[in-house]
Amino acid sequence: MSDFETRHQSWQAKADKAASRFPERREEFTTSSEIPVKRLYTPADVQGDYIEKLGFPGEYPFTRGVQPTMYRSRFWTMRQYSGFGSANETNERFKYLLGAGQTGLSTAFDLPTQIGYDSDDPMAKGEVGKVGVAISSLADMEVLLNGIALDKVSTSMTINAPASVLLAMYIAVAEKQGVSSDKVSGTIQNDILKEYVARGTYIYPPAASMRLITDIFEYCSEHVPNWNTISISGYHIREAGSTAVQEVAFTLSNAIAYVQAAVDKGLDVDKFAPRLSFFFNAHNNFLEEICKFRAARRMWSKIMKDRFGAKDPKSWQLRFHTQTGGSTLTAQQPDNNIVRVTMQALAAVLGGTQSLHTNSKDEALALPTEESARIALRTQQIIAYESGVADSVDPLAGSFYIESLTDEIERQAMDYIEKIDEMGGAVKAIEQGYMQREIQNASYQTQMAIESGDEVVVGVNKFRIENEPKPELMKLNPELERVQSERLAELRKTRDNALVNQRLADLRAAAEGTENLMPHIVAAVKAYATLGEICNVMRDVFGEYQPAQW
Ligand code: 3HC
Repeated sequence: MSDFETRHQSWQAKADKAASRFPERREEFTTSSEIPVKRLYTPADVQGDYIEKLGFPGEYPFTRGVQPTMYRSRFWTMRQYSGFGSANETNERFKYLLGAGQTGLSTAFDLPTQIGYDSDDPMAKGEVGKVGVAISSLADMEVLLNGIALDKVSTSMTINAPASVLLAMYIAVAEKQGVSSDKVSGTIQNDILKEYVARGTYIYPPAASMRLITDIFEYCSEHVPNWNTISISGYHIREAGSTAVQEVAFTLSNAIAYVQAAVDKGLDVDKFAPRLSFFFNAHNNFLEEICKFRAARRMWSKIMKDRFGAKDPKSWQLRFHTQTGGSTLTAQQPDNNIVRVTMQALAAVLGGTQSLHTNSKDEALALPTEESARIALRTQQIIAYESGVADSVDPLAGSFYIESLTDEIERQAMDYIEKIDEMGGAVKAIEQGYMQREIQNASYQTQMAIESGDEVVVGVNKFRIENEPKPELMKLNPELERVQSERLAELRKTRDNALVNQRLADLRAAAEGTENLMPHIVAAVKAYATLGEICNVMRDVFGEYQPAQW
């Protein structure tokens, strides 16, 4: 036996002896993914060659980050998800946050917009402007982006089923500013598979949705080259209750389905893959989250290089946005959430995120007030400018625990991906309810652990305060629904309705064929056809998705 092994064994005995006097807190320690956590990690837990397993930042397999100098050259984009009420109210919040130092925009749309209904549609009743900004036409988009130079800022839009319409509106506003489409940058979420699995804002059946998604890939590679055409999301999968391993596995399985669909459509993988992006959750288990991001980067680069034969290193990079875990926020003792968000944000930074949203302390109760949104942004700025963690690339690399857990997350996530491949891929797995069941089971286990007190939530099932004071919360304008309806009625009266009808007819004819729909959607948007009118033409042609009965 080597000297190390001898010393390790004698240490174990000493530790066991110490534990007999002070028993360890748990029989078994595990991560959120039920991965056992050992008492101690040593060189014996880390195998493999540095170049093959880690490599250098900005080089394959990108485990240590997608850029050679990472945050030494440029901090991650501080990109706060925001949007509520009218386009004007959100425009003011955008300007407030930019003035407070955020470096990218991120747009939250209300549910009617996300599901392709105009604000005056009966289906929109009671939801207009509630969870995001109400956008029904190019006229609203012009107000939303008023005074914001679209060649100077990158904008994310969290929109999926009607992504093509909102992208068309953004391009149209940029052109009105004199900014051509090849000069705008930003991201459209455009990830319908996770909507079927976890988030729910879908409209069309899978085939039509995949067509719209890959139409955007093709259109942007030609006309909007700096636009990230999809943000393949694990965030909502995790929010639905998945483990960290499932979050990576299901997200990358969905990503594989998108790439395969684009390749099947005849697109060159190196033409569209560099503009794919990802979106993950930063949850509570600090070290597991850091390892999750590092494992995801390494997995994706191997998948793109080996499975899809991508040649351009930019096709191998997994560039991602992170949002701190909304589901970890507590309504009780909201100030505690500032601490949770800080740790989650730190995990995202140590995991190499490109863009970050930090939740506000009051978001378990309502949309964030200006004050709580500012604290959330300041959290990022303090990590960036004061903590020192951004001053060296991937500083935790080489930790026996970090590298061992990164390997184990990759191994378990790859097992899931292989299982989904055997089922025929992500779309089939979703149609069979596989991902949904796995997430539901994980979510149930977590909830049972919290109910039993085995999993502590500070302020909720331990360290509670009775009769807490109610914090000042954000209030929405109750008049919004009426005002939006009046705006739409005015628009329909004043626009060129003959042109609108022509554009909608052209879109219908194209949707009944096989051509790329983006040019027709752009033309309809520019004629001030509304979001609902455009989406309804496609509802007529494609039908609507019926959730899998599983
Ligand atoms: N050295 C050299 N170049 C560097 C660099 C470095 N160290 N750091 C950055 N750069 C370059 C990049 O290469 C890039 O240039 P390029 O576009 O020519 O490649 C430029 O600087 C900007 O850097 P990034 O692309 O890394 O940063 P962005 O912020 O622009 O993009 C992204 C990040 C992840 C790729 C992008 O897709 C993004 O911004 N995503 C955001 C998605 C988002 O905000 N989603 C919110 C969803 S909210 C939601 O769904 C939750 C709700 O439902 C509750």
